[in-house]
Amino acid sequence: MNQVDACVAVIHQIASGFVPQVSIVLGSGLGTFADQVEDVASISFDELPGFPQAGVGGHAGRLVLGEVQGTQVAVLQGRAHYYEQGQADVMAVAIQTLKALGCEALVLTNAAGSMVTKAGPGSVMMITDHINMTGVSPLFGAQGNQRFLDLSQAYHPKLNDAMRSAAKANNVTLHEGVYAWMCGPNFETPAEIRALKILGVQAVGMSTVPEVILARHQGMPLCALSIVTNYAAGISPIPLSHEQTITYAKMATDGVERLLTGFLHSYKAVT
Ligand code: HPA
Repeated sequence: MNQVDACVAVIHQIASGFVPQVSIVLGSGLGTFADQVEDVASISFDELPGFPQAGVGGHAGRLVLGEVQGTQVAVLQGRAHYYEQGQADVMAVAIQTLKALGCEALVLTNAAGSMVTKAGPGSVMMITDHINMTGVSPLFGAQGNQRFLDLSQAYHPKLNDAMRSAAKANNVTLHEGVYAWMCGPNFETPAEIRALKILGVQAVGMSTVPEVILARHQGMPLCALSIVTNYAAGISPIPLSHEQTITYAKMATDGVERLLTGFLHSYKAVT
């Protein structure tokens, strides 16, 4: 049995017949959204072969299955990053398992640095497109013509619209921008941030893009939110740190949770 089939078997043993409509990946400091789930089951990543082990502080490493506002959800409390082992496809089994469970759509969240003055720490930015600055792809080694993946509309226009509507309905200011995936784990230099600005980037981080590529490779529609935890390097005199990331992600929790809850309340499948 391959790892995806093994994960599906474990999940079906614990939550027989459960089919998630939407999966949500919770980034650094955002794990508390899982408390909103009327849960059917909560499964440690340790029990799911090929799922990432909990790595970075603020990550629980749990798959929470249940319902939010009438929508069936699979919430990944925690993710693994390329910078942990230099493995770009570290989330492949997790994403493929969600697809195999029948999940229709994916919402990715992350913590990011902002280059936009009006989108300061504690604010939320929807990712409308990305630039992969790492030089690697989670599809290295993939076979078949599907590996030549079209990313011209990687972030689904209808899910983006649904997120905009949820923001409006719930009084959450939603910024929008292009996200640059940097390999990390070091933060960027001010020169790198100046260069990214010239390239048309509004937010910068160390995650999400591999999951975008993996999910699109599986044909899953998705949208993505960055929680701004800091101004990017060189913009503010405050030194960057992971502690700051966790603190400001928690500050944004209320807005993000209202946004996600509103999105799930009005969720409709897209094609
Ligand atoms: N750069 C990269 N990753 C990040 C940042 C940043 O400024 N903030 C949170 N994650």
